[in-house]
Amino acid sequence: MRSSDLLLSFAATALAARPFLNEPDTGIDDVMGNLTAGELPPLDQIIGLPDFEWAFRHARPAKNYTYYRNGAAGEWSYRNNLEAYSRFRLRPRVMVDITNIESTLSTTILGHNFSAPFFISPAARADYANEVAEAGLVQGAYEGNILYMAALYAKLSIEEIAAAKPTNDTQVTFQQVYLDANDTATKILFERAEKAGSKAIVFTVDSAADGNRHRALRYGVGSADSSYSYITWDYYQKLQNMTTLPVIIKGIMTVEDAVTAVEKGAPAIMLSNHGGRQLDGSPSALEVALEIYQQAPQVFNQTEVYADGGVRYGADALKLLALGCKAVGLGRPFMYANAYGAAGVKKAIDIMKHEIALDAANMGVADIKKINPSFMKWENNNWYS
Ligand SMILES: Cc1cc2nc3c(=O)[nH]c(=O)nc-3n(C[C@H](O)[C@H](O)[C@H](O)COP(=O)(O)O)c2cc1C
Repeated sequence: MRSSDLLLSFAATALAARPFLNEPDTGIDDVMGNLTAGELPPLDQIIGLPDFEWAFRHARPAKNYTYYRNGAAGEWSYRNNLEAYSRFRLRPRVMVDITNIESTLSTTILGHNFSAPFFISPAARADYANEVAEAGLVQGAYEGNILYMAALYAKLSIEEIAAAKPTNDTQVTFQQVYLDANDTATKILFERAEKAGSKAIVFTVDSAADGNRHRALRYGVGSADSSYSYITWDYYQKLQNMTTLPVIIKGIMTVEDAVTAVEKGAPAIMLSNHGGRQLDGSPSALEVALEIYQQAPQVFNQTEVYADGGVRYGADALKLLALGCKAVGLGRPFMYANAYGAAGVKKAIDIMKHEIALDAANMGVADIKKINPSFMKWENNNWYS
């Protein structure tokens, strides 16, 4: 290659490069950049979900932020989770009466009524955000009338989270579990969850081994050991006989496993790569949902399909709902919002509801429950090309 050609090819590569925007620049630094370290911006100045991350990063210790923020290895899956939504364009329709859109937000999840088709995904260590820990999440979920999935590795115990519910009788929560194939311990755990009022078990299956977490290990908040868990389809069937609660499978990443989950009688599955924290290279939920839509669309009718990872805007949620997902989960945004306690969590819920309604209306969707794949262009478009 001639030196001038070489130079041109370098220039082309440099031009093709573009920054990864963890928190897209919408001016928050200009408006709030002079806050003193450790200070949270006033809650009424939080505009969108990414602002909660900005606020958390400024106000909480780097170690706490790193635990929430980290992804596995080089964090390609973490970044892809956020970027995948921008690769698929919307197909907005016009001249549609969308004036009742807000009244169509409510939905059911396994038969339980909620005010919106999104929920708080299970995430450990809420005390890194706030001393009220999971109480902020469960109370915020109550106030916003959405589902809270409690993490097993929470700061508060299953019973303490139940006791933190504003009304213990009526608020529906689900309990996430990691299991170690000890049947006696598993039965006790399931009984505790049921007694505490959980209406479903969320069995996380994407973490057969610990995540390889470079960023978090630097701060001593990564997975330091190398334990391996026994997670098989046979084991799943055994679990279903250990409780009367529905056992949801969290962490489906291929169409094959989605189909098998249906065959094994899963009442619901969650498409998730654990927020890109487990296996770098694993696909985003949007990519998995698309794979299922293209190769086995019946799955969306045979079981309830939820999805999480990288959802930060109303339109992100709508893209998953358009493919047939019943509800979408958010992990980090609620963990960051909990720096403000229940009020922050409630504000995050309100923002998300507002954005889903606005974006659906601008897409010409009259009823969120009727959104369908025709509202999207399912070719993979690179926004930057
Ligand atoms: C700090 C943190 C802790 C998490 N802990 C758990 C956990 O204990 N169990 C689990 O199934 N998933 C856990 N997850 C994954 C979330 O349930 C969810 O899949 C993920 O956060 C979704 O991606 P998002 O953060 O981009 O919304 C955790 C995620 C985060 C960010």
